[in-house]
Amino acid sequence: MDKLIIKGGKKLAGDVTVSGSKNAALPIFISTILAPGMNEIQNVPFLRDINTTIKVLESLGAEIQGNGNIVRIDTSRLSGHEATYDLVKTMRASVLVLGPLLARFGKARVSLPGGCAIGARPINLHLKGLEALGADITLEHGYVEARARRLKGARINFDISTVGGTEQLLMAAVTAKGETVLENAAREPEIVDLADILTKMGARIEGAGTDTIRINGVSELQAVTHSVMPDRIEAGTFMTAAAITGGDIRIHNMRLDHLDALVFKLQDAGVEITHKDDVVRVKGPKRIKSINIKTRPYPGFPTDMQAQIMALMTIAEGASVISENIFENRFMHVSELLRFGADIIVEGNTATVKGVKKLSGAPVMATDLRASASLILAGLASDNTTEVSRIYHLDRGYEAIEKKLAGLGAEIKRVKED
Ligand code: EPU
Repeated sequence: MDKLIIKGGKKLAGDVTVSGSKNAALPIFISTILAPGMNEIQNVPFLRDINTTIKVLESLGAEIQGNGNIVRIDTSRLSGHEATYDLVKTMRASVLVLGPLLARFGKARVSLPGGCAIGARPINLHLKGLEALGADITLEHGYVEARARRLKGARINFDISTVGGTEQLLMAAVTAKGETVLENAAREPEIVDLADILTKMGARIEGAGTDTIRINGVSELQAVTHSVMPDRIEAGTFMTAAAITGGDIRIHNMRLDHLDALVFKLQDAGVEITHKDDVVRVKGPKRIKSINIKTRPYPGFPTDMQAQIMALMTIAEGASVISENIFENRFMHVSELLRFGADIIVEGNTATVKGVKKLSGAPVMATDLRASASLILAGLASDNTTEVSRIYHLDRGYEAIEKKLAGLGAEIKRVKED
């Protein structure tokens, strides 16, 4: 296993380029099940979760070749209709094959994902929606078994905004008979990117990016070429890295409009943000001001940036109140941030962070993907050395983060753990 060693105290400077979005790429890869033929996906990030998705698709019979950031997925001759426990427990997003498999083959068998470090994360709304489209669903031996002759359009009103649930139903509905309306749908940019590839494939979708998505089922889809949108959370993590080190960096290949909620908050904290085309300049202040954060579905403040902003608040002037409203257990980074000398008290879903003058580097342990990013940020701002272990979480979702940070002048290296 690898760990990261960070010598803090360097102000970041220079240029960094954002990779393709993990959370857009995963459903986009899976959507190729719906379009028999050779699909070409561009701007693909090199990540462990992408490898897992490739394994899932290969286990279904897809033929896949990679060349740099381009991945070609041939789904002409799929034979399987099952995602096993081994794959789903490694990556929950594998459950998204349920809708497309059901749509293409009329049957699917997919392991239930089980628990997760950040919350229970059930898939009840995925299943309820598929039932509304006419699927017959049973749960047996830890697996969801789903069957349907041809799915039929329906009106589905989500109890809560769910990104995965919206993606699942969108993919199931594109070839269903008649019209499907998804109400209280998630509005995340990743949903729009998925709708874009499905539309290129021949799907008829209106309203992606709003809370009402209308889908008119078509009988079949064709293979296409599509480039994945930039990763907004990776971009936000670099913005926060500039802020926490008092640095001055330029971020390339990012969509600033996908990060409005974060940008407003960083500006309130005293960070200067300017942009020209897709290059964004981020300049940290001498001392960060405290801000309050409530995580919300898009366009609200993203839960995937909560841990990183908490790291930033540990050295802010004053106290900050951060409430997590999406996942019930997404404060695992708190006890690790305390090891840097941070002052944080958690009560229910709210953390109160009192800014301290400086952080002091320490050995810490990553607990999930975004928690890992927050520990790196704290390490960059600390006055001495930090060791972050268990970074396999990080490799799931950040492409070469230590190389990108080193390119900005950070002293950070990856070493093998004893
Ligand atoms: N939920 C249910 N029932 C369902 C589905 C969701 O109760 O059937 C609940 C969840 O337990 C959670 C809330 O609804 O409390 C929102 O979950 P959502 O379905 O929106 O999340 P997800 O699709 O499982 C995606 C991202 C997460 C990101 C969330 C929220 C992917 C692969 N994952 O998860 O990304 O935090 O949306 O924006 O797209 C990450 O990248 O670190 C990450 C965890």
